[in-house]
Amino acid sequence: MESIPIQQQAEGESKAAFLRRFARDVRNGLSLPRKRLPCKYLYDDTGSRLFSQIMDLTEYYPARCELEIFQMHKAALADLFGGPPLNLVELGAGDGTKTRVLIGQMRARKTDFTYVPIDISRAAVDCVSGRFSRWFPGLRTRGITADYLAGLKWLSGQNHCRNIVLFLGSSIGNFPARDREAFLRNLRQSLNTGDCVLIGFDLVKDIAVMTRAYNDAEGITAAFNKNILTRINRELEADFDPGLFRFYSTWDADARAVQSYLVSTCAHQVHIRGLRRSFDFSAREAIHTESSHKFTRHQIRELAARNGFAVAAEFTDDAGYFTDCLWRAA
Ligand code: AVJ
Repeated sequence: MESIPIQQQAEGESKAAFLRRFARDVRNGLSLPRKRLPCKYLYDDTGSRLFSQIMDLTEYYPARCELEIFQMHKAALADLFGGPPLNLVELGAGDGTKTRVLIGQMRARKTDFTYVPIDISRAAVDCVSGRFSRWFPGLRTRGITADYLAGLKWLSGQNHCRNIVLFLGSSIGNFPARDREAFLRNLRQSLNTGDCVLIGFDLVKDIAVMTRAYNDAEGITAAFNKNILTRINRELEADFDPGLFRFYSTWDADARAVQSYLVSTCAHQVHIRGLRRSFDFSAREAIHTESSHKFTRHQIRELAARNGFAVAAEFTDDAGYFTDCLWRAA
């Protein structure tokens, strides 16, 4: 195995620069009349572990549906990905459950490729690199710890070879609409014409099904969201009491998204030493932590066309809950 876990410093930024940006984002977000925190900070090592547990929840249908798509269409996907050597780049690699199915097929076809998992959590990159080298002895793996922006910057330096980018799990649904378009344009710019991306989209469906996915009986999703407070306590020396917040999520028909919040149960003050500032919370005041946008097929086709991609193929689960779209850089 050739696994080169890159330090956050090499691909992204130094710990100090990260902390400065984290501090700035927390200060800005908690200073808004409607408090919010960027969802990418949910994914520290603990958050990434909780996220893996969410993927196994019966309520969390997107993971199950996308795995079904991979199992059902693995041959077609591996055929599409055959040919000259390539980088199989996965943005936000997570724990690799779905990619494992695809890579098994590509190996069976003797496709020459390097697997490049990119994830914001160093522990997640190390974990996924380790698992793949155990599952597939001799697999070329190059793990990169980076956020999407740094990941795309790395990708734009890889234009001497074919790249296939996996962006699974409907992670694209976490962007605000404007950032989503900017991300797709940036992704297109980082690719050569003819390169492909496989993007997972969670489709609009029965509201009860969608909201249940964020309201699991075990409270894992609540713990996942509350972990951002624990992270701020640790990294910015704050005194959040996560017990004073309740997790709440709801369908937002206007935004076409499940919105997640941490709601303060009482009036209280939180001090963040790293910001030399206190923040007031009134009873029932909410911090917005995440938007999980859902998509229509029409909207997906327009997204592709507007941002320089041609739709090459679409794969959907039996229930029609989720779709993986293969786009070619046009
Ligand atoms: C897979 C990152 C898109 O928004 O559905 C799961 C994250 N948050 N449960 C989603 C998540 C709460 C998830 N993404």
